[in-house]
Amino acid sequence: MILKNKFGFINPNVKRFLYLYSQIERDMSDCAQISYNYHTPVMLQEVLTGLEIKPDGVYADLTFGGGGHSRAMLKRLSPEGHLYGFDQDMDAQAGAPEDGRFTFVRSNFRYLRNWMQYYGHDTVDGILADLGVSSHHLDEGSRGFSFRSDAPLDMRMNQRARLTAREVVNEYSEEQLASILYLYGELKQSRRVASALVKARSQAPIETTGRLAEVLTPLLGHGREKKDLARAFQALRIEVNGEMKALRQMLDAAIELLAPGGRLVVLTYHSLEDRMVKNVMRSGNPEGESLQDAVYGQSLSPLRMVGRMQTPSEEEQAANPRSRSAKLRIAEKV
Ligand SMILES: C[S@@+](CC[C@H](N)C(=O)[O-])C[C@H]1O[C@@H](n2cnc3c(N)ncnc32)[C@H](O)[C@@H]1O
Repeated sequence: MILKNKFGFINPNVKRFLYLYSQIERDMSDCAQISYNYHTPVMLQEVLTGLEIKPDGVYADLTFGGGGHSRAMLKRLSPEGHLYGFDQDMDAQAGAPEDGRFTFVRSNFRYLRNWMQYYGHDTVDGILADLGVSSHHLDEGSRGFSFRSDAPLDMRMNQRARLTAREVVNEYSEEQLASILYLYGELKQSRRVASALVKARSQAPIETTGRLAEVLTPLLGHGREKKDLARAFQALRIEVNGEMKALRQMLDAAIELLAPGGRLVVLTYHSLEDRMVKNVMRSGNPEGESLQDAVYGQSLSPLRMVGRMQTPSEEEQAANPRSRSAKLRIAEKV
């Protein structure tokens, strides 16, 4: 990209990028360094705009991660406001802000309603969910989320959970593996891959990310091995962490918990979760069945979509390639 033309004027795209980042920097100015190393928050300004934060409100960030979104949300709250930051990963807790207006909840967000009741809230004013794994998960090779480092096949976000990727790869039936790879990874060659896994594990258990990558690579599309490997790893991770079930339960809880006018802001990273979020925001249910008033034909959906689906700007995608597949959707409780 040309930064300046011959007259020394800055390219407008670069200008927009600098502006965006100066805003993000302002929002993040009091962030501990950990949050940048742990995870760079995606679509920060768009998320904050979508939440329409009321300074005295009660909010839940269901995916605290490195706390980038949470810290920016806290900056918009008055001493009367409160933010609950959820994460099921104990590593995330280390970066929790020490602030009387913040409570870290180390739990799966599927228990959102129970926790809010426990803290004495029948309703909340806004909910953010930035789904999936953090950069920390992918960069910390020992967690077994990435094929870029060799580690035991783990992939648990919650280190106390029972199911690991090792069990899924070595104990699930060929049929189960094929459907996981197809549904959660959108892998075209899912049946061939499942059959190769079953054959390989009959010789010796597949114990590490390195061995898994070795078995899968020869079966993947030529020239797109890395993309397909990432899809296969994504599929296993979604299964290990029960992500689709947790999302469904969380969306149901969010509908019940939000106060009228309260905002639900969700960032998704693959089509299956995006479809579920879109359906719930449009119709109030994951199947997308529209419920209408029998007499007047008006929508009975508990949520109203706010604006269209948004994606990160080109500048953000260039600065943070992991943001590339993000889709942001916003809804308001009717
Ligand atoms: C994409 S990261 C969030 C990053 C965060 N917004 C930030 O600015 O740093 C997703 C985080 O949500 C957590 N997570 C994913 N699914 C979860 C669930 N069902 N319950 C609780 N935490 C979950 C992961 O452990 C991870 O730390």
